[in-house]
Amino acid sequence: MATDGVDLRRRRFLTLTATVVGGAGAVAAVVPFVRSMSPSARAQAAGAPVEADISKLEPGQMIRVEWRGKPVWVVHRTKEMLERLPKIHDMLRDPESKEPQQPPYCRNEYRSIKPKYLVLIGICTHLGCSPTYRPDVAPADLGPEWPGGFFCPCHGSRFDLAGRVFKGVPAPLNLVVPSYRYLSDTRILIGEDPEGAA
Ligand code: FES
Repeated sequence: MATDGVDLRRRRFLTLTATVVGGAGAVAAVVPFVRSMSPSARAQAAGAPVEADISKLEPGQMIRVEWRGKPVWVVHRTKEMLERLPKIHDMLRDPESKEPQQPPYCRNEYRSIKPKYLVLIGICTHLGCSPTYRPDVAPADLGPEWPGGFFCPCHGSRFDLAGRVFKGVPAPLNLVVPSYRYLSDTRILIGEDPEGAA
């Protein structure tokens, strides 16, 4: 049994050596990658605010930016899109945004600072898939009641053009509105509250 003990110790030593070597290799691989990032990229990876340029965003269009590793959408809503929002309350689970899924300054009909521009984190509140942007009204695949919004292909959750969840779908909550503020009429800073806002 003494031999078994020696073998066991040797095996443990070998395992430990392999683990340390593997760990050192992994660190060596990561450090150059981090060093190769610019200071602003490093700050963004750590959670710093990111800027979105909306100067070329046409009515009805959406752009995606990444903040803290998550997709953030900015949608330029048309007048018609905004007019539909108050008319579909009956179809929604939390039409008045009572759940804390948005900063206080976005707890309004449009869930935004300026009605025209919607800013949302593009992650479904069911199990985290990224819904698709479906602004078209009553398309064949989503049915005659569809007022435009976001459709999650994973399990069929539906959200309107303010990110509010429909009744009768798996997602329990509205999509999250991140903190953000306007740097100018055409630049939005995502990840920072407006001055003086909670
Ligand atoms: S993750 Fe979106 S419906 Fe399940």
